[in-house]
Amino acid sequence: MKTRNKKFYITTPLYYVNAAPHIGHSYTQIATDAVSRFRRICGDEVFFMTGTDEHGEKIERAAIENGFKKGEEKRFTDSIIPNFKKLWKDLNIDYDFFIRTTDDYHKETVKFILDKIYKSGDIYKGEYDGWFCVPCEMFWSHTQAEDKVCPDCKRPLNSIKEANYFFKLSKYQDWLIDYIDKNPDFIMPDYRRNEVVSFLKGNKLNDLCISRSKKRLSWGIELPFDKEYVTYVWFDALTNYISGPGVLNNKKRFKKLWPAEFHMIGKDILRHHAVYWPIMLHAVGIEPPRTIFAHGWWTTKGEKMSKSKGNIIDPYYILGKYPVDSYRYFLLKEVSFGLDGSFSEEALIRRFNSDLANDLGNLLNRTLTMVEKYFASKVPACSKKNGPCQEAAAAMAGRIEESMDRLNFSETLSAIWAFINRSNKLIEVRAPWKLNKEGKQDELAQLIYELVEVLRIVTIAVYPFMPASAENMWGQLGLKDFAKINFNDIKKFGLVKSGTRINKGAPLFPRIKQ
Ligand code: MSP
Repeated sequence: MKTRNKKFYITTPLYYVNAAPHIGHSYTQIATDAVSRFRRICGDEVFFMTGTDEHGEKIERAAIENGFKKGEEKRFTDSIIPNFKKLWKDLNIDYDFFIRTTDDYHKETVKFILDKIYKSGDIYKGEYDGWFCVPCEMFWSHTQAEDKVCPDCKRPLNSIKEANYFFKLSKYQDWLIDYIDKNPDFIMPDYRRNEVVSFLKGNKLNDLCISRSKKRLSWGIELPFDKEYVTYVWFDALTNYISGPGVLNNKKRFKKLWPAEFHMIGKDILRHHAVYWPIMLHAVGIEPPRTIFAHGWWTTKGEKMSKSKGNIIDPYYILGKYPVDSYRYFLLKEVSFGLDGSFSEEALIRRFNSDLANDLGNLLNRTLTMVEKYFASKVPACSKKNGPCQEAAAAMAGRIEESMDRLNFSETLSAIWAFINRSNKLIEVRAPWKLNKEGKQDELAQLIYELVEVLRIVTIAVYPFMPASAENMWGQLGLKDFAKINFNDIKKFGLVKSGTRINKGAPLFPRIKQ
């Protein structure tokens, strides 16, 4: 297990505000939230930052399509931000800081970084002759886009031939290859690292065009050394990871937080994060983040879910029908974090009924019913508090720590569910109803006590993934101080006080009829 009890800075990408967030966006948020909550209950001081990417041609176009005039883009983005914040609240995303690329401190930081790189000689003026994809906000060379469509999204490209500014990426190519080699955790999972390494070893990096002429686009941050240009939206957006903690305006906080432990991103923006970003940082003398973790895509019918493909699923459609925690659980359990997954409502219902209603819901319900029935709703006293579940709980704790360090949520949840199902089996094997009939009171009390302890432990274990359900379970178990739950308490057995009055409520996950 990696060292705990330290600062933990984790980020999400900044979302484009041209449209409402969909399932793909909510995925990065939920994953980041689960990691943050896990680290918090492990004792880390977490700084979870998210936000919005608001400049560039794509947003300018969206503003105009939505009836705003040129010059009114900020009014447009202001009108969209509440949708994002509302969804994050409804998904229980507990972030610490929300950054907008239109915030003044951010704009000042971008200018500062540009100026610094310009003065050091790593930005130069040249002729750009190539293509630009507005939906992807990407420059493509003639050789990369021979058929005049975007190699990523296959949409038509705009031709650009004009004087522009370039950042000397190529100068740092060897440094980056060496850096990745020496820091195997810099890009995760390893199959994504291999992709970046083979790209870097097999291609000569082109210098990066980092400006857009104001003749074409004015919605952006002006270059500090040439007022005829704004900066390229990716140069602007990537800088958020250091402007947010305050590289310019809150040096004390920045010093404490940087380098970030994790930049959580989708695989489509890996190159920007794993190539452009570390080189930008290196050029200004700041060390790279510790890990860039690229997850896969949610697809529908085999295609990436995206607004332009018209195949998005609105998270509110799901939230309108199913509890928020079943949505969070499904996304993190269904696929190994890093790989693609196919989203379907049927699959969500299947998971809900088997894992949540059947396994977890039943364990809670049966145990509390027995406390109610055999012990007048009070956790029984017993002569021996540590049964066979203690060892299983400790083994589960180890598996959780190990898999959470690799952000393999699906594996973490499997470890928790193995523990849940082991306990369900224990009920079948030990048959408490028989113990009761045969008057074996102490044996019965021991078993029920152990099951209550199992549920206390399971509640802590599922909390990062299903915080609302965990709070509900904690309350039903009659436990107090939910805000103080602690991961280390998973490793302890016998913490629930005998005599605690349980508070059995309605079933947590009533089965969904199909
Ligand atoms: N604005 C840039 C990021 C700048 S970060 C300095 C951007 N924004 S985005 O809104 O298009 O995408 C944000 C995130 O959502 C990306 O990590 C992307 O991978 C993720 N997803 C968008 N569609 C997705 C799926 N269908 N499935 C999973 N995640 C996907 O890129």
